[in-house]
Formats: sequence, C-alpha cells, structure tokens
Amino acid sequence: MTTPESAPILDRVKRAVSENRAAVYASVAVLVIAAIGGAIIGLNPAITLVLVVVVVGASVGSLAWRNREKSQSERPTGRGVFTQFALIAIATLAIIQLVPYGRSHSNPAIIAEPEWATPRTRELMVNACFACHSNEVEYPWYASIAPLSWAVTDHVNEGRDEVNYSEFGRGGEFDETIETIRDGEMPPGYFTIFGLHPEANLSDSEIDELIAGLKATPGLSEEDEDEDEDEDEDEDEEEDEDDD
Ligand code: HEC
Repeated sequence: MTTPESAPILDRVKRAVSENRAAVYASVAVLVIAAIGGAIIGLNPAITLVLVVVVVGASVGSLAWRNREKSQSERPTGRGVFTQFALIAIATLAIIQLVPYGRSHSNPAIIAEPEWATPRTRELMVNACFACHSNEVEYPWYASIAPLSWAVTDHVNEGRDEVNYSEFGRGGEFDETIETIRDGEMPPGYFTIFGLHPEANLSDSEIDELIAGLKATPGLSEEDEDEDEDEDEDEDEEEDEDDD
C-alpha cells in the first residue's frame, strides 16, 4: 500500500520517534497515569483525555521551542525531557484550580425521606448512598481540588438527578433501589476501590440486611410502584407472559 510519497513521510515519522524517544515514553506515561487516576476518581473520560492532550501538547510544544536553535546533540534527553513533562503537568494542575466548576458544595433543603423500615435501614443507606443521592452530602477535603472536585460534583449532580433520597416523592428511580444494590451496581466501583469509603463497602450480610429493610420500606421496590411503567430493563420473561 505504500505509495512513493508516503514512504518518506513514514521514514520521517520513524526518525522523529527515534530522535524523541524520551518524549514518546513520557507521553505514554502521562496517558497511563491519567487513565488509571481518572478511572479511580470516576472522572469523565473525555475530561481525562482533554487533560492528557493539554499536558502532552504543552510539553512537546515547550520542548520544541526550547530546542529550536539547538543541534541534535545539545537537546535535552531522558531526564531533561521527563522533568519538562513533570513541570508542565504540575503547572496544568495548578491552572485548572482556577476553573470555577465544582466549587459550590451544595446541599439543598431536605424535602422528604422514604419511611425507612428501621433506623438501621437508614443508617446503611446513609453510609452507602447518601454521598451522591441526598441533600446531606459530606464533601471531603479533596472535593475542593480539581480535577477531583469536578468528579465529585459530577457524581452528586448525576446521582441526585437519578434518585434523591432527601427528595422522596419528587420523581426519580426510587423503584430501582433494591435492584441496583442486589446487582452490585451501586455504590459505583470507583467509590470503594482500594479501600476508599469503607463505610460504603457493605458486607454480604449488611447487603442482605439492607435489602430486607428496603423491601419493608414503601416506594423502593418495583412491585409497589404503579406509576413508573417505563422500565427498559431486561425483564422480558416476566413481562412477556400475559402481555397483549
Ligand atoms: C459515588 C456516588 C454514588 C454513590 C455512593 C451511589 N450512587 Fe447511585 N448513582 C450514581 C450515579 C452517578 C448514577 C447515575 C449514573 C449511573 O447509573 O451510573 C447513579 C444511579 C443510581 C440509580 C438509578 C438507576 C441506575 O442504575 O442508573 C439508583 C437507583 C441508584 N444510583 C441507587 C444507589 C444506591 C441504592 C446507592 C447505595 C447503595 C447508591 N446509588 C450509591 C452515583 C452514586
């Protein structure tokens, strides 16, 4: 498939890579660190990608600028290149603190909670769910540092949009509560990974206890919801039986 013109381009790319090996490795390192870090804090992958592009772009650009009048032998290699990437990464983290998004740590008024079957049911829900699905969010110290603050704000906004246990009766996926816990979907994996938020990492017996309590709490099971019929879950078997 190589046309006569593409071969020199390919050669040029290959040469550029081999002359800038340290920059290539540093770029890959930035990507890997950001991908892992972004996944752990549950940052939107598009935002993670933007941060990577900014750090790599600024690092490569600033290196090219510094090298513009130097011969190949005078250019920084290895450690010098990595230092440049590290400095740009630190500068980027400093600059993104100026972004106003994620600073307001809101907790609107509490409207109404479900009639929890027992105080223990509420306690387990508070421990495992209220960090994102209530108007009693306790914002940790790192919720003030970007990009963590962006991720936390995103989770709380999205979580409250789906279901807000401080605004019971205002619409939301209340009838999905038991199912998300039973399926291990909630709390989200990033919330309890590496021993984070241990109080939210319910043991099997706590989960059984919680589900029993939630079944005895009106409005949280699918059976006692008549209004919300727009289920798009894969429950075909139950529904297909006598549906006409
Ligand atoms: C770290 C924040 C966080 C915690 C803690 C959390 N959730 Fe969620 N929850 C979300 C987000 C974000 C969504 C919306 C996106 C999604 O579905 O992943 C959501 C969606 C939901 C939904 C809507 C249905 C669905 O599957 O999308 C229900 C119901 C729910 N959560 C219940 C719970 C329950 C019950 C707990 C506690 C056992 C809990 N959540 C803990 C963030 C959280």
